Amino acid sequence: VTTGSDGITPRDGWSSRTAFILAAVGSAVGLGNLVRFPAEAGANGGGAFVLFYIFCIVLIGLPVLLSETLIGRHGQSSATESVRRMAAESKASRYWEGLAGLGVISAFMILAFYCVIGGWVLYYIGVFVGDLFTSGVTGGALAGMSAEDISAIFPALLENGLLMTVLDLVFVVITVYFVARGVSGGIEIAAVWLMPAFFILLLGITIYGAFGGAFSETLTYLFTVDFTKLTPDVMLAAVGQAFFSLSLGVAGMITYGSYVGRDVNLAGTSAIIAFADTSVALVAGLCIFPIVFAAGLSSEGGLGLMFDTLPHAFQSMPAGSVIGLAFFIMVGFAALTSSVALMEVPTSWAMEKFKTRRMPTAIAIATLAGLLGVASAYSMNALSGFHPLGFIPLFEGLGIMDTLDSVTAKLFMPIGAILTAVFVGWIADKRLINGENGLDGGLHKLWLFLVRWLCPVVLTLIVLFGIFG
Ligand code: PFF
Repeated sequence: VTTGSDGITPRDGWSSRTAFILAAVGSAVGLGNLVRFPAEAGANGGGAFVLFYIFCIVLIGLPVLLSETLIGRHGQSSATESVRRMAAESKASRYWEGLAGLGVISAFMILAFYCVIGGWVLYYIGVFVGDLFTSGVTGGALAGMSAEDISAIFPALLENGLLMTVLDLVFVVITVYFVARGVSGGIEIAAVWLMPAFFILLLGITIYGAFGGAFSETLTYLFTVDFTKLTPDVMLAAVGQAFFSLSLGVAGMITYGSYVGRDVNLAGTSAIIAFADTSVALVAGLCIFPIVFAAGLSSEGGLGLMFDTLPHAFQSMPAGSVIGLAFFIMVGFAALTSSVALMEVPTSWAMEKFKTRRMPTAIAIATLAGLLGVASAYSMNALSGFHPLGFIPLFEGLGIMDTLDSVTAKLFMPIGAILTAVFVGWIADKRLINGENGLDGGLHKLWLFLVRWLCPVVLTLIVLFGIFG
């Protein structure tokens, strides 16, 4: 039995394989699936993007996902310690633990701004709860508001640094509530309750939206394959999105993998996680676009798709207030199980590094992430002129929040994933890997090939393109 950070009590872990699957799917399914995937698929040519995305998930994402869970399960410790152990047993340099160290930093940076967006979701939940009282249950949402009024909601929120701060901190507090209670007593509870609720809401809203009449238009939009739209930028956007969506490159799946029992088949389980995550991304498209198209609105627009276009669409939808509320609650559940994963990475690292107990460690991490979140919230208004890495051409003109996003997405996450693939493919002793991954024969060879060659090469291209493209 592995012991926890005090060296005496047994280490906490998932109570079952199902709990692990739900927690890992909870980590993977988040704002990336609901906000970014539909927006990118829409903007980048529909079917060709979707096909290429699936290709990236299977050939690049899944092999790295298996590598991460494998390192964690083998090490049964925090991410850095797990890598260090595997390196030591492979007689490799201990500096390989840096790959997980980089991941811990990325997870912390993402956590900070992810909770700010989580706060926006809370705000919209509030808007739609209030709306139930004004618009009633059967009519459209936001009754009596003009299109301009609705368009003003999101910019007004972004201008209001204080409100965003409060909402960010509320979201951080909800997140730390689960993280502080431990793996089986907190993180797992969140996943086991929220993920099924999430799935029910997603399917319910999708089916309801499909009756709005724009379902076939959506199918054409998302699945008409036009390969001329598959330019290098679009392809790299797809790989990056696949990685973010599977929560890779931030040591998150190393950390979650470290709570998995020896009896679990990692390859099969990783495949289930990737399948669930990808299905949710696709269904999110089938959920959002019929609502948008039925209202005659444009599918354009990044974050605006969720926070601006959809509220307009809910106005012209029967029972729009209820659907709007259900929709943002659903988004909130997905965001929360992801922010919990993001917080667990630095928390488990710090617990082991400083030999501290979970509760105070989680609170300390939450406090720091909250502070950085507040700075991010103000970077959209009072601090918008402050560009922390403005002296580097790559990050010129970016405020605090965009810098956190850009540094992690363009550099830290892909570099973390490259190092993971190289470590597992080339450095780690094959006796540690064989058997541990749950693969044999041809599939094992294929996996090893992907991890050794395809993943590092493609990810290196992403980094280079991110820098020079
Ligand atoms: N996969 C999450 C999403 O798609 O929103 C984001 C994320 C969560 C990334 C947890 C990394 C992580 F460790």
